Order: sequence, then C-alpha cells, then structure tokens
Amino acid sequence: MNSMSLADTGQTLFDLDEHASVDEIRSLQTGRLAWSLRYAYENVSHYRRAFDAKGVHPDDFRNLSDLSMFPFTVKTDLRDNYPFGMFAVPREQLARIHGSSGTTGKPVVVGYTANDLSTWSGLMARSIRAAGGRPGMMLHNAYGYGLFTGGLGAHQGAERLGCAVVPMSGGMTARQVQLITDFKPEMIMVTPSYMLSILDEFRKQGLDPRASSLKYGIFGAEPWTNAMRREIEEAFDLEATDIYGLSELIGPGVAQECIESKDGLHIWEDHFYPEIIDPHTGEVLPDGEMGELVFTSLSKEAFPVVRYRTRDLTRLLPGTARPGMRRMEKVTGRSDDMMILRGVNVFPTQIEELLLASGWCSGQFSIELSREGRMDCMTIIAEARDHVWDGAGMRAHATTFVERVKETIGLTTKVVVIAPGTVERSEGKAKRIVDKRPRPG
Ligand code: DLL
Repeated sequence: MNSMSLADTGQTLFDLDEHASVDEIRSLQTGRLAWSLRYAYENVSHYRRAFDAKGVHPDDFRNLSDLSMFPFTVKTDLRDNYPFGMFAVPREQLARIHGSSGTTGKPVVVGYTANDLSTWSGLMARSIRAAGGRPGMMLHNAYGYGLFTGGLGAHQGAERLGCAVVPMSGGMTARQVQLITDFKPEMIMVTPSYMLSILDEFRKQGLDPRASSLKYGIFGAEPWTNAMRREIEEAFDLEATDIYGLSELIGPGVAQECIESKDGLHIWEDHFYPEIIDPHTGEVLPDGEMGELVFTSLSKEAFPVVRYRTRDLTRLLPGTARPGMRRMEKVTGRSDDMMILRGVNVFPTQIEELLLASGWCSGQFSIELSREGRMDCMTIIAEARDHVWDGAGMRAHATTFVERVKETIGLTTKVVVIAPGTVERSEGKAKRIVDKRPRPG
C-alpha cells in the first residue's frame, strides 16, 4: 500500500495560487478530497475500520456534500493510536515529528513527510506575506521551538518567504527586548499573551515600545480579542493580525488574517476543507452559523486527517481579501474552555474584552473557579495598569466591574484587582482558568 501519492493524481501540491476563484477552489477540493479519503482508507487502518463501521467507502464520495457521510475523527482516536498508528507512511518516509505540549497523559503525535514540510512552509510563507511580511525583512520568532509546532512552523515559513529569522523561542523576556532593540526586526511572531509580557519588559527597561522597529505582528496559538489587538497595536505602533492552526492538521498556517482587511482569518482552503457542525448532534451547519470547526486535510501524506473535530467554536464567512477562500471568524474559545456557571455559558475572551474596555486593566488576568457550598463561583483576578494602581485593591473599580459583568454576561462574579506585575506571566499559551473546585467522586 501507500503507493499512491497526490502527485500521482496529476494535481500539483504547492502551486495553486491563493487568489483562485471560489469555483476553482471547489473543483480543486473535490478532486483532492476524493484523493485524501481514498488515501486515508488505504493506508491507515483506523480510517479503514471507521469507514467500514459507518458503511461508507471512498467511492461514495462524488461531490463536496458527500463528505458528511464520513466519520468524524476526535482527539481520543489519536491517543488510542499513540504514537504512530495514524501515520499513512512507513517511518523511513518521515521527515519530522511534532506533538502537543500537553503536560498530562500521552502527547498527541503528528508526522510529516518532506512534501508535507514543504507544503507547510509554503502555507506559512503565504500567511506571513498576508500579514505584511516581505522578502528581506527580519522576523523575531518568539514562538516556542520544540515539539510545539509554533516555533519551527514560523521559522521555516519565514525562511521560505526570504526573511531573516531570529530563532529566539519563548522565555528570557529581558533578552527578547534586548534583541528586538539591537537587531531591529520589522516583524514578530508570538502568542498575544506573551507579547503583553514583552510589553511589560519594554516599560520596565524604560524603553518606549512605540519607538521599536516592529511594524507587523502575527499572533495566535490561543484565543484573543479585537480589544487585545487594539491594545497591542496601540502600545507598539504596529499592525497585528491573527494566525490559526493546530498540530493535528499541520501546525500554524491553516488560516491567516490579511493585513488589508483584518476581518477574520482566511482558511487556506486549497489544503484544508472546513466544515462547521453542531457540536451536540454532529449535523453540518450552513456558512454563517456558529458551531464547532471540523477539518479534512486535502494534501497531507504522513498524517491525513478526516473530519477532525477541533473543539474550536467559530463560523465560516465568505472570502474578502482572498475572495476564493472562506474566512473563519476569530475563535471565541474552545468548547473545553467554556465555563458554565449557574446555567450561563462564558468564555475567558468575554472577560478579556470587558477588562480591556475598563481602561484600568492591562489585559493580564486569570479566572479562578471554586465551590462555595453547592454553588460554583468565579473570581476574576485582574491586574491594574501601572499608572492607575492605588496601592490597595481599587475597590471602586472592582465593584463597578462586578456590575458590568452582571449587565453584559448575566453572571455574578467576584473581582479582585491586584498590583501591576503580579499575574503569572505566560511564555507561550496563557493559562486563563484555575479550577479549584473539588473533583467529582
Ligand atoms: O497552537 C499551532 C499554532 C502555533 C497556531 C502558532 C498559531 C500560532 P496546538 O498547540 O495544537 O497548535 O493548539 C491548537 O490552539 O485548536 C485552538 O484551540 C488554539 N488556537 C490556535 N490558534 C488560535 C487562534 C497551535 N489564532 C489549538 N485563535 C487550536 C484562537 C487558537 N485559538
């Protein structure tokens, strides 16, 4: 098996231009989906079993709407096949392994052939260009290097575009600021929460962040709001765009916001086919409706994925800056991050938006969940900006904020305002929720 590669089908892997029309993309997707479903079925025993169990065969796929007959793939399928059971090529054909950075249990392991790495670099180069990057620029890469896909994904894409990369990785914040100041890169790639830590460090060192060389920032790997975008753009005098991706699909570079519109992220639909489903029923929802994002890979060789449930909540919108490619709205949160308190659903991004709108908060915050009697309680622990901190708890602001959360989200919370610099800083993805509720059982 494993004899048929996408190239054998007569289609080219890398050269479809991101400016193709909707019709061109749909026809390309139909051909590539037919290939990818068959390829997964013939080369990964998990897919063969799952298709057979559902009574579908790759021959049943004739047009895009037929995809809904095929089974979903979920994270536990990957865990159950740890480490290499979902791979479609023998180990000798792998060029790279990445994985989730999860701290407990087995990591999710993903693999790439040399062709997959080349596709990925091409998509990252395309993403960086859409964010304002051009050959000849210097890019400060503060995504973590290692099993996490952020560091190496950004690195190889920037090189492909013709940029000089500073492979800084996360951490050593004082050094980050020193190198940005001395090397004068035009671009930075980093999680939005770590960008706030870099901002603090600029101020700590008495440097004006607006005077830095940075002109373009590409932020992702975690949910962040438009309020946070304004905060970062204003503080550094740069243009901030959003980048989305996940290891299971390839890493960063699945979707990217374009600098000219900043209106959600264009999905690189020539390589990934998106669907939105109702997370409870699995029913496919029409474009424009909110639900769980599901992806099928269209060109991957080592690790094809069929209808992978991301748990990310968003909706699909028509293309704008790249008319052939649909956009996904900024991800509000993962279904795993949704807190339900007394029947009210709330995501950390909703709290972030309100905190930044308050004017007194720097955007550094965490949310503590606890149990009082039978009731779940939420405490928002928010850091004050330097110039407003009163040395105590800023009681009046805290009280007003409790009311604001009640009015807008409908939730009764506690709010504790703390001194600048006291919320634990992230060096990668921020951990917003601290769950102190007793474990059931
Ligand atoms: O976070 C890949 C990545 C690296 C994306 C660098 C962007 C920049 P994972 O560690 O597998 O991969 O985590 C994937 O992170 O399912 C989302 O829940 C979340 N996520 C990623 N990008 C965004 C974003 C990388 N722009 C998971 N907005 C995904 C919101 C995001 N959430």
